[in-house]
Amino acid sequence: MLDELERLQKEVVISISQASTEQDISEIRVRFLGRKGSLTQLLKRLVTLPEGDRREIGKRANEVKEDLEKKIEGTLLPIRERERREALEREKIDVTLPGRRILVGRRHPLTQTLDEIIDIFSRLGFEVVEGPEVELDYYNFEALNIPKGHPAREMQATFFISDEVVLRTHTSPVQVRTMEKKRPPVRVICPGAVYRCDSDPTHSPMFHQVEGLLVDKGITFADLKGVLTVFVRQMFGKETRLRFRPSFFPFTEPSAEIDIECFICGGKGCGVCSNTGWLEILGSGMVDPAVYKFVNYDPEEVTGFAFGMGIERIAMLKFGINDIRLFFTNDLRFLKQF
Ligand code: PHE
Repeated sequence: MLDELERLQKEVVISISQASTEQDISEIRVRFLGRKGSLTQLLKRLVTLPEGDRREIGKRANEVKEDLEKKIEGTLLPIRERERREALEREKIDVTLPGRRILVGRRHPLTQTLDEIIDIFSRLGFEVVEGPEVELDYYNFEALNIPKGHPAREMQATFFISDEVVLRTHTSPVQVRTMEKKRPPVRVICPGAVYRCDSDPTHSPMFHQVEGLLVDKGITFADLKGVLTVFVRQMFGKETRLRFRPSFFPFTEPSAEIDIECFICGGKGCGVCSNTGWLEILGSGMVDPAVYKFVNYDPEEVTGFAFGMGIERIAMLKFGINDIRLFFTNDLRFLKQF
């Protein structure tokens, strides 16, 4: 048994010398000193020895055991130290590195533009109302003084759902729907999507408009000019020059389109303004008495004005965007700039 002890001791020393990780050491501990370990087993057999041998061998066995425990502990320390150093090296954090940026979403440039338009008109006392995008011919054309066969129908390439149902070509039908429901005074703006069969860098088959309508006693063209001048100055800057240019819409009389001075050439004339020095931004006019007939308003009693603008067009001018399709392709490189 003494020989056996010596062998065990040597075996442990060799194993320890080959151990390189804490895991190796703990395996060695189990193999020799664990409950089923070879030294433990040997100690158990001591009881079978005669009294004299038992004491001598027992003493020696305990010495071996203590020695092994010491050796194991002694090897463990440097291994643990090394493993800790390696881990620190591996998991090194450079606290001077810049942090990772968190991606924040933002409002779409068209939403930003619409919010700004709504802000301006809210301060002037206008209320926001909406109407359907799938619209009756009656509201989109008929009640706006555009009867069947009227040439103005041709100007708006219409998507038809059926003979009497269309995708609205403008937000003007909401004027009629609003007047059907409310008596004057009426002061509303109506934002929303509209549809025309048209597609190129400045036309999209789906785009957005904001309609405006103000009807009350004694409203004149001066009110139209005042309100829309305030709008243009707040939207494009208070130095912005604008002009009211005579125009025609079947549902307004007289009608005017508003141009702002071309911000590219400052009015001298360039490619962007087709050498006119002016950029058209909206249509407007005094509500035609013919429209009041459809909603039972008395044109002898009330007057009003209406206007309509394309949100994409306003945003393109405000942000200097040259292709309307950029709004709808959802390219993050584009959207991130706003
Ligand atoms: N609905 C017209 C358009 O789409 C714009 C407009 C609205 C003109 C209201 C006058 C009054 O072109």
